[in-house]
Amino acid sequence: MNTSALATTHLTVSCIGAGRLGTTLCRLLVEQQSAIRISIGQVLNNSLESSLKAVDFIGDGSAAKDSARLEPADIWLISTPDDAIQEVTEALAQCGVLAPGNIVFHCSGSLSSKVIRLPDNQCYRASVHPTHSFANPEKSISRFPGSSCAVEGDEQAVAVLNALFSAIGGVCFPLKSDKKGLYHAATVMACNNLVALLAISKQMLAEADIDPAQQEQILNPLIGQTIDNYLSNPDPADSLTGPISRGDQSTVATHLDALSSEPQWHAAYTVLGEVAVGLARQQGFASDDDLKKISDLLASATDQ
Ligand SMILES: NC(=O)c1ccc[n+]([C@@H]2O[C@H](COP(=O)([O-])OP(=O)(O)OC[C@H]3O[C@@H](n4cnc5c(N)ncnc54)[C@H](OP(=O)(O)O)[C@@H]3O)[C@@H](O)[C@H]2O)c1
Repeated sequence: MNTSALATTHLTVSCIGAGRLGTTLCRLLVEQQSAIRISIGQVLNNSLESSLKAVDFIGDGSAAKDSARLEPADIWLISTPDDAIQEVTEALAQCGVLAPGNIVFHCSGSLSSKVIRLPDNQCYRASVHPTHSFANPEKSISRFPGSSCAVEGDEQAVAVLNALFSAIGGVCFPLKSDKKGLYHAATVMACNNLVALLAISKQMLAEADIDPAQQEQILNPLIGQTIDNYLSNPDPADSLTGPISRGDQSTVATHLDALSSEPQWHAAYTVLGEVAVGLARQQGFASDDDLKKISDLLASATDQ
């Protein structure tokens, strides 16, 4: 593929592992209206039944029975679970269907394009991680536009994928290959671990004999206000309220005492409390002396 001829190009994308993300991206690529026309070549899943279902949802392409029957394509989207990517790309290379200039890319958040093992350097490798939750492909079709997409890999592949993901509404940005682990952990902190933290909060309320309906009444507006404050202030320090922001040492001591019987809650509180002390220093509402005492309290609680 001549990547400089992108202005008026018709490209074929084949997908190995068309699950929630793969089916959504293939359909968006087929439906996008840019100068680069996309057709889906083949779809290869674990089972033929699953491949046929994916083709039906995408509305283009055909199901492949196995990797030995794959036909040539310009771009190969590998959207299997992360653990299968290396093995699948090795099988792709061995079946002899790849041609010089093909692009092979995956969508893992934590793995870089280096996990794609191709025997020679005639194909271009990349990874594109969309910061989007593809739980329901039908919903993701309309909600995908505006999603950030971290792109890294060979320059030629990055140029083509930036154009294609921008055409489906993605907001592409470059990411260094060796920073993918850290980047992905950051997105997990803001998404999955936030859910885990809210689960802890609910468990604490239950332990305080508050029933589930009341727990939601207490937490939901508070969560909404906190997220709202955070989203309207780019600096997290601007959104911090509560005892650490005020320098209330005795309140923090009461909390640590109340949490002492549950090591997981206690550990989460002390670690995040230390981060909050740093934010409170930035804010400047509490005195340095009070914040130092809170920091010492948290540190001695961690040592116990
Ligand atoms: N879902 C998300 O929200 C999201 C967001 C960003 C990035 N990602 C990334 O996107 C990739 C796919 O995630 P997903 O959530 O879409 O996965 P998924 O829904 O579980 O789908 C995985 C697909 O891969 C197929 N598959 C598994 N092993 C295979 C193999 N050895 N050969 C061929 N096909 C195989 C499965 O086929 P069968 O149906 O036949 O089993 C299934 O269709 C991952 O790299 C993930 O990190 C996902």
